[in-house]
Amino acid sequence: MFKHILKICIATATLLPCWGNALTKELPAPAMTGGMPLMEAIAKRHSARDFDTTRAIDDQTLADILWVAWGKGLHGKRTIPTSRGLQNMQLFVLTPTGTWEYDGMTHTLRKVNKKNLIPLCERQDFVKNAPLHLLYTCMDDRGGECHVGSAYQNVYLYCTSRGLSTVVRAMIDKDALKREIGLPENHKVIVHQCIGWPAE
Ligand SMILES: Cc1cc2nc3c(=O)[nH]c(=O)nc-3n(C[C@H](O)[C@H](O)[C@H](O)COP(=O)(O)O)c2cc1C
Repeated sequence: MFKHILKICIATATLLPCWGNALTKELPAPAMTGGMPLMEAIAKRHSARDFDTTRAIDDQTLADILWVAWGKGLHGKRTIPTSRGLQNMQLFVLTPTGTWEYDGMTHTLRKVNKKNLIPLCERQDFVKNAPLHLLYTCMDDRGGECHVGSAYQNVYLYCTSRGLSTVVRAMIDKDALKREIGLPENHKVIVHQCIGWPAE
């Protein structure tokens, strides 16, 4: 049993993104075309909590996930609507070697700290098996939580289309996450979303 848990921990740690000492990470351009027909993806959308601990998320898939959530589409518009165009949400990628903020306008990741904040999201056992961890925060009450909902739903639909498992989660230590990221007082942590390839 212990050996099995150790194997999962080692495999997961190896597969989670680390990205060396860089402070910014360029991402491949998002695909913007293809995938499952929209109506089929909506019909098949569901939460899944089983993750293949041996398969990482490649950079193209990561880029597509971040872009569908909070990127810039054609005509310079975000992939999601925001109340009065406020764009008052943030999207972070949590990795064992640091927290990265996704800048959707430049489609890049910027390192905001060197902390491993994934354990603050691990109130359910399956979380540690996921290779990708997103954290959504918003700036104030002016529609921020609705914007986060639009973003995670886009990710759900993308995951359905690509055959990825995903589940959005509120069962996380929001106060500690806010403190550790150093979010300003008027910001709040909303949800975590874990993503990975389904276990066989
Ligand atoms: C705001 C929000 C918070 C959620 N928090 C959790 C959570 O902490 N843990 C979890 O396992 N699932 C969580 N879920 C997923 C729901 O349990 C799931 O969406 C629900 O059971 C319906 O299943 P479905 O998504 O497959 O339709 C959350 C969903 C939402 C929308």
